[in-house]
This record gives sequence, C-alpha cells and structure tokens, in this order.
Amino acid sequence: MNSILLTGCNGQVGWELQRTLAPLGRVTAIDRNALDLADADSIRAVLSEVRPRIIVNAAAYTAVDQAENEATQALLVNGQAPGVMAEEAKRLGALLVHFSTDYVFDGNKNGCYVEQDVTNPLNTYGRTKLAGELAIQSSGCRYLIFRTCWVYGLRGKNFLRTILRLAETKDELRIVADQCGAPTWSRMIAEATAAALATRTVAEGLFHLASTGSVSWHGFTQAILELTEQMRLRNPTLTAIPSSDYPQSAVRPLNSRLSCDLLEQAAGIRLPDWKDALRLCLGGAATA
Ligand SMILES: NC(=O)c1ccc[n+]([C@@H]2O[C@H](COP(=O)([O-])OP(=O)(O)OC[C@H]3O[C@@H](n4cnc5c(N)ncnc54)[C@H](OP(=O)(O)O)[C@@H]3O)[C@@H](O)[C@H]2O)c1
Repeated sequence: MNSILLTGCNGQVGWELQRTLAPLGRVTAIDRNALDLADADSIRAVLSEVRPRIIVNAAAYTAVDQAENEATQALLVNGQAPGVMAEEAKRLGALLVHFSTDYVFDGNKNGCYVEQDVTNPLNTYGRTKLAGELAIQSSGCRYLIFRTCWVYGLRGKNFLRTILRLAETKDELRIVADQCGAPTWSRMIAEATAAALATRTVAEGLFHLASTGSVSWHGFTQAILELTEQMRLRNPTLTAIPSSDYPQSAVRPLNSRLSCDLLEQAAGIRLPDWKDALRLCLGGAATA
C-alpha cells in the first residue's frame, strides 16, 4: 500500500486532499504543529521516519501582503522547504507533489500563460514560490508541480468567504475590476491531484491546474452575490474600481490566466468553468 505524507493538512487545499488522497494509500496528514517547514532538519527527520512513497506538499506561506515584511520566513517555507523535500524525495525514491502559483508571472502577457512562459514575479510571495519550483526542478527528484490560481473554498481564508462576510455588513462593495484570473475551488484542485496520481498517466513535470474561463475580482464578486442572493438579508451595491484605487503592500499581476491544456493532453484532466464550480461550491453551502 502507498504511504503518502501530506503537509499543510489544515489549509484550503490540504484539507480537501485528506479526503481525496485517502483511497490511494495510507495518508499521514500533518500540520504546522507536527512539522514547521521553516525548520529543514525537522523536515528531514519526519521524512526519514515516515519514508513515504508520495510526498504531497500543500503547506505554504500564503499571506501575500505580509510576505513583503517577512521575506525570510516566506523564503524558508516556500523556497527552502520544497528544496529539502525534493532532496529527501530523491533519496527515498519518492514522488514529490507540490503546488505553485500564477504569481510567478508578471501578468503582462496577452492571453493565457503556458508552462514554458518566462517567469517574472512582481512580489515577494511570487519570488519565494518560484524559488521553490526551481529548487524542486534542479533536485533530480521525481515531481509534479501544479501551478494554480485564485483559490477559494468554504473553509479557510479566501476571497469567497471575505465577500460573503462583507455582503452581510456593508452597503457598498468596491472591488478591483482590472485583474483577471480563474477562481479555483480548493476541492477541485484536490480531486484533480488525486486523479492525476490515480491514473499515473501524467508525465512528471510542471502543469497549470486552474478552473476554465476567466473573470475579474469584480465579476467574481458579482457571481457570488447573484448566487447567494436568496441566502442573504442585505444586498450591497457593487462598484468596479481599478487596482490603483485599492493599494496593497504586494503588487499583483493584472493577468493571472493559466492555460491548462498541457494537463488535459497529458492526463485528460480539465477543471470545469469557474462559475459552474462556484455554483457547486455554494450549493454545498446552501444545503450544509
Ligand atoms: N490561496 C491562493 O489563492 C493560492 C493561489 C495560487 C497558488 N496557491 C498555492 O496553493 C497551495 C495551497 O494553498 P492554500 O490556499 O491551501 O493555502 P492555505 O489555506 O493558506 O494553507 C497553507 C497551509 O500551510 C501551513 N503553513 C504555513 N506556514 C507553515 C510552516 N512554517 N510550517 C508548516 N505549515 C505551514 C498553514 O498552517 P497554519 O494554518 O498553521 O498557518 C496552512 O495550513 C500553496 O502552495 C499556495 O502557494 C494558493
């Protein structure tokens, strides 16, 4: 039976992976208390003890704005730790599954980014995630890296939950309309990851994994408000604003669209349109 080590098991994607990986083997799911990824020696010790056949790293330093002031910690978790896991994966003959981000790109491309496009992160988080990708790729281990985008779900800290909370308290929501991407449900990422591992037809390497289609944060908000109208007592007005009217510590790319054709060709895996997935996710909320 496969032995699978899952890190970040309380995160958005990690939580869902606990369920989707379960049929594939014996899953050891650990959180920050069991393993602090900033501590390279602890990573080596845990991996030597568990000796997994598959390592799934769903942990990351994801506080994008805070990373501007905590670059060292972000680099330890997002850059160094994946490199240490990759070295250990190589030693153990294990497969390393890792997640990365659209923020490795600068967003200046017209059209969707493909895996081979030149990276040029605009912020510290993006730079540290790119460092993690490069450390894995240069390690010589067997790996799958999935770059995903605009992750949301019904638990954890994410844009959907923020909008649902603000919609109950604010009269007006002023939301950025000049950044586009594909909101991607954490559950879909976890399902697709398990499917990729189950079929074993996916060549190892780096793949984009995000919902189909694209929308702005403003358009995403509009869809959330429409789909939850019956669940709310208030109905705030929605105003489109440019990124320049919403200054944040970390600069975001204007274009986060990822082409996922490579994964479809390699494994026949394609996530649904972002709005269909949102409807499914909120359907769960309505019946919960
Ligand atoms: N969220 C997005 O919009 C987005 C977009 C593109 C790519 N991604 C990538 O997708 C993957 C999954 O993201 P997510 O949204 O599921 O993230 P998340 O919900 O923020 O979960 C990340 C998990 O990592 C853990 N973690 C942070 N620092 C740690 C440390 N030093 N040691 C051990 N664990 C630590 C966190 O633990 P605590 O709860 O204790 O802090 C949390 O459980 C990540 O690789 C992320 O970079 C995310």
